[in-house]
Amino acid sequence: MRKRDNVLLILVGGAAVALVVVVGIVAFAAGHSTRSTTTVTVASGTTAGPVEQIDPSVAAGAHDFVQFACAQCHGEQGKGGVSPDVPALVDIGKQETVTQLRQIIDHGLGESANPTKPYMPVWGEVISRKQVSDLVAYLRAGLPEVPNAVPQAVPQGQGEAVAGGALYVRYGCINCHGPNGLGGIPNPQSPDKAIPPLSGADFRSEFDTPEKITEIIRTGSVLGRAPIVSMPHWGGILTDADYNALVAYIDTLKP
Ligand code: HEC
Ligand code: HEC
Repeated sequence: MRKRDNVLLILVGGAAVALVVVVGIVAFAAGHSTRSTTTVTVASGTTAGPVEQIDPSVAAGAHDFVQFACAQCHGEQGKGGVSPDVPALVDIGKQETVTQLRQIIDHGLGESANPTKPYMPVWGEVISRKQVSDLVAYLRAGLPEVPNAVPQAVPQGQGEAVAGGALYVRYGCINCHGPNGLGGIPNPQSPDKAIPPLSGADFRSEFDTPEKITEIIRTGSVLGRAPIVSMPHWGGILTDADYNALVAYIDTLKP
């Protein structure tokens, strides 16, 4: 090996060491800046500070309130304004006891009194006892704002099926009919022992037109008294565009 090559090797080796050092410094700095950025983002307002602690049960209740579409009927944070048939819940924690609130969530309210209007669905078979406790804690805390407890956004201008897929989550259909409309959610006291799927041969043959699907979503269908879970009434809550989007989404599921 000639002398010039050796010099070159030493230079290359030196450069490699220098590179490792530089990469190390950059990575170290990146780790640090990420950490300080996170602190600023999470802190409320503009100044960095400790993250505000929310009672975990109240926080879980706020997320459940969104997941089970309570917010879609009672308004975000239970402020009402969605339909004259659905009460606001802002003062409910002061008016009702824990036992009464559990009873309403587990067993629903008013489903047989007037089936032509929205009623409070029966959730007892669908929502766990822990989740009901969390929902009650959230209601009794006055439905405070909880970061990230926000309903699924509905994409616009991406076609009806995409919007319908988002509505399926936003309006909580997924909790009762399963992901992809696969069904399988127990409904032990009902004749079928389960909430029906929105896919598969039986569903397709019974609900073979968009009108039939829209009609049952609009009117709901009361199978019996609590603890039997029935199909909620969405008339006055969903719009015609929403029904069309949901039908388009259901059409994309397994035949
Ligand atoms: C499909 C719409 C709908 C959904 C979804 C819904 N509710 Fe209701 N809810 C109602 C209606 C309608 C009433 C009034 C029933 C009546 O008085 O006959 C009601 C009543 C109530 C009441 C009693 C209010 C009062 O003033 O007496 C509580 C509490 C309540 N809902 C909590 C919830 C919670 C918690 C969820 C989510 C797990 C939820 N609701 C989901 C429609 C809905
Ligand atoms: C609280 C649980 C629950 C929720 C939430 C719910 N459903 Fe249902 N749904 C049912 C039950 C129970 C039935 C069966 C009713 C019957 O057989 O008469 C049903 C029936 C249906 C049917 C007819 C299928 C069949 O075989 O009877 C369609 C379509 C449907 N639901 C769509 C929806 C859509 C869309 C949403 C959301 C906007 C939704 N459901 C939300 C419980 C629910």
